Amino acid sequence: MLDEKKLQEFAGKAVGDVAGAMSLLMAYIGDQAGVYVAMDGAGPMTADALAERTGLNARYLREWLSANAVAGYVDYDPASDRFTLTPEQATILAREGQPACMQGFFQAVLSQFEMHDQAVKTFKSGKGRPWSEQSPCCFCATDRFFRPGYAANLVEHWIPSLDGVKDRLEAGGRIIDIGCGHGSSTVLMAQSFPNATVLGIDFHAPSIEAARKKAADAGVENIAFEVATAQDFPGSDFDFACIFDALHDMGDPVGAVRHIREALKPDGTFMVVEPIAGDALAENMNPISQIFYSLSTTICVPASLSQDVGYGLGAQAGEKKLTAVLNDGGFSRVRRATETPTNMVLEARA
Ligand SMILES: C[S@@+](CC[C@H](N)C(=O)[O-])C[C@H]1O[C@@H](n2cnc3c(N)ncnc32)[C@H](O)[C@@H]1O
Repeated sequence: MLDEKKLQEFAGKAVGDVAGAMSLLMAYIGDQAGVYVAMDGAGPMTADALAERTGLNARYLREWLSANAVAGYVDYDPASDRFTLTPEQATILAREGQPACMQGFFQAVLSQFEMHDQAVKTFKSGKGRPWSEQSPCCFCATDRFFRPGYAANLVEHWIPSLDGVKDRLEAGGRIIDIGCGHGSSTVLMAQSFPNATVLGIDFHAPSIEAARKKAADAGVENIAFEVATAQDFPGSDFDFACIFDALHDMGDPVGAVRHIREALKPDGTFMVVEPIAGDALAENMNPISQIFYSLSTTICVPASLSQDVGYGLGAQAGEKKLTAVLNDGGFSRVRRATETPTNMVLEARA
């Protein structure tokens, strides 16, 4: 029998989710139109004053500000009819490059709504969908979403958490970043370890093009990029190999790990950064996992199923499954070196 109270509660939750989905779109519009940046530090403003400041249409701004005020994305003072972006809201919505800025996160979700027809088709077919068939917005969003976390953690926390790696790379050595995407992690390592050389590889040619441009814009020279798969990239005698949020996207993660093992020096270290997750669904009943399981349904699992083997690890594989993949690929010593609220960092050695 239908429990009326439970029905009302669930309906309320669903309405909240619809409101949240619309908030993401409003936030993205504000991001792309530069409204949050214009409001950051500007104090309380009427819609008309904001229109003057931004050159945007006052009527659209009033509607947009109203949506944002109800969402709690801006503050509203009814007495003066003024809107304010607080420092906390600005940190999440306006301050590009800060680890807490979530615009890249929002953009990743919107990139999935953009391709909703394709997502339904893939889901119903049970077939894979290559990474290259995501919207271009998805590639930029992935980079934008992950980059601040890498900037805050990679050199300061993750590499120092590995046994002897920081000292080794400061002295020199060869680094390979596998599935490097737009190359933010690759460029960071090249900048931070000027005595080392860094190779970034990815099988998605447009991403490698973007990565090369990023390195050229940053003026780093101890870096190179190649279009190659994780299972057959060129080169050997690497001191340090790493994969950032990409192992679970691969069709043959065990084959990739095996190839990485062969390309590393015998005493080299492999660092695997993956989305944080417990080993079982029951341990993952939280909003971060909800987001990752969803993105995994439309991006990661289809990307893996579209490749040879089609292992389908999923973005919430958990440490046990990841360790089994690393063991099967030839790394006998695996430990969780460190973690953040969104990522776990595994250190693997032969
Ligand atoms: C979620 S993105 C992460 C990109 C980048 N590491 C980052 O953190 O921004 C996953 C990346 O894995 C790459 N990828 C997936 N399967 C691959 C394979 N078998 N060989 C090489 N790259 C692969 C995709 O092209 C994509 O750039």
